[in-house]
Amino acid sequence: MKLTNVELRKKIDELKKKLSVTVVAHFYQRDEVFEVGDITGDSLELAMKTQADDSEFVLFCGVGFMGQSVKVLSPEKRVVMPKVACCAMASMITDIQYDEAVKFLNDHGIANENILPITYINSGADVKAKVGEMGGMVCTSANAKKIITTAMQEGKKILFVPDRCLGQNIANDMGLESMVIGVDDKDPNKCDIICYDGFCSVHQLFTLDDIEFYREKYPDILIAVHPECDPAICQAADFVGSTSQLIKYITALPEDQKVAVGTEFNMVNRLRPKNTYVLSSTKPECPTMNETTLEDVYLTLKAIDDGEPINEIQVDEKTQKWAKIALERMLAL
Ligand code: 13P
Ligand code: SF4
Repeated sequence: MKLTNVELRKKIDELKKKLSVTVVAHFYQRDEVFEVGDITGDSLELAMKTQADDSEFVLFCGVGFMGQSVKVLSPEKRVVMPKVACCAMASMITDIQYDEAVKFLNDHGIANENILPITYINSGADVKAKVGEMGGMVCTSANAKKIITTAMQEGKKILFVPDRCLGQNIANDMGLESMVIGVDDKDPNKCDIICYDGFCSVHQLFTLDDIEFYREKYPDILIAVHPECDPAICQAADFVGSTSQLIKYITALPEDQKVAVGTEFNMVNRLRPKNTYVLSSTKPECPTMNETTLEDVYLTLKAIDDGEPINEIQVDEKTQKWAKIALERMLAL
């Protein structure tokens, strides 16, 4: 017989007390899963907080690249995931496609020593390792501007993978010239940031029509969006920020201030009891983030208790070494 959420929660709490395990949950997780997290946050917070944690097991509720980043940063930890769900954006680039992007620059006369690659944390360890080996680093949406500002000081061309929107939005914000490989017919020699053509299908849902709809309906409404949204959406918004920056901005608004938010549904839904709207008529749920259920969390804990952990993340030694270097260059900043 299927256990109810209340029963599952009781069993999860018991197993958490018994085992050396820390449950980690991203803000986009379903409410009932998010609530069992010992550590919660956006991708940057989770990477930093889990590094400081000393449990034997990390049970990571999120998408694959997040659990993998914990393993890369702390290879001695045993990282298990209730569902090894893959972020759609991260799966748009492999190490082979990364090499092709570098070749595109080489073919335009830009040598590897004049390229500084930056990968959004939403990428596999193979891509992070390639970036690390080329002297580059990782960024998240919370620190992308800072990372790019620092990188620009080296006077090199920035190859930004995989999110074209984040790359373009930062370029627009900083008054830099950008292009997207295979989309824009521009000379990369005349651009500061050259973006790979990846994107988040969830954040592509928000349209200018959605913004117009809310502005017409509530003339004083504010529009707040994640930088994975299209540049046209970010330019039309009142505030653009990462997950943690959106939370800070929205929860500090006066209670009667209406705000429409362009990011993942689960997070928006638990932000603020009143006057907060989802900026889309289509429910912007991240399908892979939503795959993890409370039952999955329980079964993963039970497997640890039974001495047969499931879905354990493994990263080979060479990939781990260079991906860690790329992640640590970010954390050092
Ligand atoms: P954060 O870095 O803001 O947590 O975002 C991760 C993500 O996948 C956003 O879609
Ligand atoms: Fe990936 Fe988009 Fe889901 Fe974030 S919301 S995990 S970028 S698919």
